Amino acid sequence: MVIGMCVIKNSLGQSQEMVKSIVKEGDTVIDATAGNGHDTVFLARLVGEGGKVYSFDIQERAIQNTKKKLEEHQLEKRVVLIRDGHQNMDRYAAGNIRAVMFNLGYLPGGDHTIGTRWETTLEAVKKAMDLIMVNGIVSIVIYYGGDSGFEEKEHVMEFLKGIDCRKYTVMKTDFINQINCPPIFVGIEKFK
Ligand SMILES: C[S@@+](CC[C@H](N)C(=O)[O-])C[C@H]1O[C@@H](n2cnc3c(N)ncnc32)[C@H](O)[C@@H]1O
Repeated sequence: MVIGMCVIKNSLGQSQEMVKSIVKEGDTVIDATAGNGHDTVFLARLVGEGGKVYSFDIQERAIQNTKKKLEEHQLEKRVVLIRDGHQNMDRYAAGNIRAVMFNLGYLPGGDHTIGTRWETTLEAVKKAMDLIMVNGIVSIVIYYGGDSGFEEKEHVMEFLKGIDCRKYTVMKTDFINQINCPPIFVGIEKFK
């Protein structure tokens, strides 16, 4: 696994790098999978005091872990924590979103059977693609193999290949010499 000072970042690092390159102070962004709150804290720092992060998770434990982490860094005022599925994100956010981050799979340290599911993931990714502004980004880190299985990855990749190339650019990483199903980073940019 590639970590630390390496130039080529792992998928998590690549997703953060892409998001960081576009998010400005005052922006509104979404963390679609709060989990233990690492991405929510990352986003809250990027949007600054005048910005807003909507952060979703279906598990109370994840919401509490994220809340605690935000309080430790005194970032809680910039974040709306929502215990609901990301497939309902359009009920909370009205549009003009600069970036939406997905980190699929199960809660690290939690119940491995409560992971993201391809049906709701696809619903949420489509909504995220609508909600982002032009030049906004949807970033997705996809875990597969092991406890995550292959089903979600296969459905998501199939959907991504069919996205209208007149409106969105879609890229994915391919770590071609790694073993054990390295997570995949996908970036979707809206240009129209
Ligand atoms: C890999 S974890 C996210 C890690 C997180 N980004 C972090 O920084 O710690 C995936 C999370 O997605 C959550 N999840 C599963 N289905 C969901 C859904 N439909 N809507 C929102 N969150 C969901 C799980 O409860 C889990 O906490």
